[in-house]
Amino acid sequence: MSSNKTKVTVVGAGAVGASCAEYIAIKNFASEVVLLDIKEGFAEGKAMDLMQTASLNSFDTRIVGSTNDYTKTADSDICVITSGIPRKPGMTREELIGINAGIVKAVCESLIKHSPNTIIIVVSNPMDTMTYLAHQVTDLPKNRIIGMGGALDSARFKYRLAEALECPISDIDGMVIGGHSDKGMVPLTAHATRNSIKVSEFISDERLNQVKEETKVGGAILTKLLGTSAWYAPGAAVSGLVQAIACDQKKMFPCSVLLEGEYGLSGLCIGVPVILGANGIEKIVEIKLSDGEKAHLLESAEGVKKTNALLA
Ligand code: LAC
Repeated sequence: MSSNKTKVTVVGAGAVGASCAEYIAIKNFASEVVLLDIKEGFAEGKAMDLMQTASLNSFDTRIVGSTNDYTKTADSDICVITSGIPRKPGMTREELIGINAGIVKAVCESLIKHSPNTIIIVVSNPMDTMTYLAHQVTDLPKNRIIGMGGALDSARFKYRLAEALECPISDIDGMVIGGHSDKGMVPLTAHATRNSIKVSEFISDERLNQVKEETKVGGAILTKLLGTSAWYAPGAAVSGLVQAIACDQKKMFPCSVLLEGEYGLSGLCIGVPVILGANGIEKIVEIKLSDGEKAHLLESAEGVKKTNALLA
């Protein structure tokens, strides 16, 4: 049997939602994943297909599909919101706000009705603004609303760093903070390491700058190649956050959280390092940033606030 009794709901059974459910199930720490979609039969079909991988992939997590029946989500410990439209090639995440804000608001209201003490992970774009919206709609304590972007952007950063250093990705450590947007991401190049040695020891400033730029458009490059937004890495990133909470791991990830003075910012959700455990955000970690990184984070926050202002 899976090791704990965590119930997870994933709203949206599209590519991202299904990948979230798959990676959560494969890691075998949750007892149940409820997959929900508005399209008749779609979530049921995905859930059945995934359940038919259980014996092949050796997991005991039960995946249940449902066409928008929120009673099935009752008493979820963690709810992941992936609903909304993904971006098409050439679109920014911010351009999705009109449609996605209405969807995310309705989903939050339905979730909270059946799981009033849940922890919500927001994936829908523009993610930082949708995370802020989740605060407004649910009134949950700030430790229980988490935006997923930084974990994904950091994975893309590590992929690009390993490519530049011509080394295994497991040698690399690095983090991306700031807004989950092409302009807003702040890859912490000065803090990134290969086995504790600063990456700047291995590659030129010019190459490091190139890595930074490639990281920022990581999602956009994929959207262009795929014709829609990515799903494997977003799904894997979400499963990492869910596992850290479900298993009370106290792991550090950059996540979008409501700031109240940290990093000199307040009244918005944006990516900063946090510790994730059973209570959701156990702690916001304030690290020392260089002047350049600080300026970039402030600029990124201005961008997020502009998008927040578009909320009705
Ligand atoms: C991406 C989407 C999930 O960056 O925002 O691929």
